[in-house]
Amino acid sequence: MKKTRLAVFVSGSGTNLQAIIDAGIPTVEIVLVLSNNPGAYALERAKKHGIPAVAADHKNFPGREEYEKHVLGLLEPYNVDLIALAGFMRILSPHFVKAYKNRIVNIHPALLPSFPGMHAARQALESGVKFTGCTVHFVDEGVDSGPIILQAVVPVRDDDDEESLLERIHKEEHRIYPEALKFIASGKFRIEGKRVLAAS
Ligand code: GAR
Repeated sequence: MKKTRLAVFVSGSGTNLQAIIDAGIPTVEIVLVLSNNPGAYALERAKKHGIPAVAADHKNFPGREEYEKHVLGLLEPYNVDLIALAGFMRILSPHFVKAYKNRIVNIHPALLPSFPGMHAARQALESGVKFTGCTVHFVDEGVDSGPIILQAVVPVRDDDDEESLLERIHKEEHRIYPEALKFIASGKFRIEGKRVLAAS
C-alpha cells in the first residue's frame, strides 16, 4: 500500500511534530518538515529523526505571494500528498489552499468554531466556558474555519491559568493529531459541506 507523503509545517517547538513522529503511523511517511522560523526547535527534532528539514523564512520575501510561490517550489520535488500544519503561525492564502485543496490539515487549541485565531486558551478562560479542547480540521480559505476531522474535550478547572490549561490541551493534541492523520491517510472518508464523514 502506498504511504501518504506528509509535509509538516511548523514555526516553534514542534511537540505535535514529535507526537506524529513517535506515533509511527504505518501508512504515513513524513517526507519534509518546513518552518517559516529558522530558529524553530521543530527543525532540530526533524533532523534528529533523519527527516529533511528546511527553513523558509517569510521575512526574506516582499509579500505573501512571493513567499508561497517559494514554498510551493520547495514542496514540488517531494510529491507531497498531505500537509499538516503543526503550530505553523502563518495564514495561507486562498491560492495556496486551492493548490492543495482538502489536502491541508491544521490543529487548533480550542473546540472550533469557538475561539479561532490567536490565544485560543486565553479566549476560553476569558469567556468562562467549562470545557474547551482541540480540533484537527481541513484548512479552507478562512481562519480555522474548515471541515472538522477530530476533536477532544478538555475541562476548564477553577484554578487554571493559560499555561496549565494549554498544557492539558497539548496532551490531547498529541493524541488526536496522529489519529486524525491515520484516518485521512486511510482515505475512508468523504466531505459533505462542513462535515467530514467516515466512509466504510
Ligand atoms: C499547538 O498548541 C497548536 O494547537 C497551536 O500551536 C501549538 C504548537 O505547538 N496552533 C495554533 O494556535 C494555530 N492557530 P507545538 O509547536 O509544540 O506543536
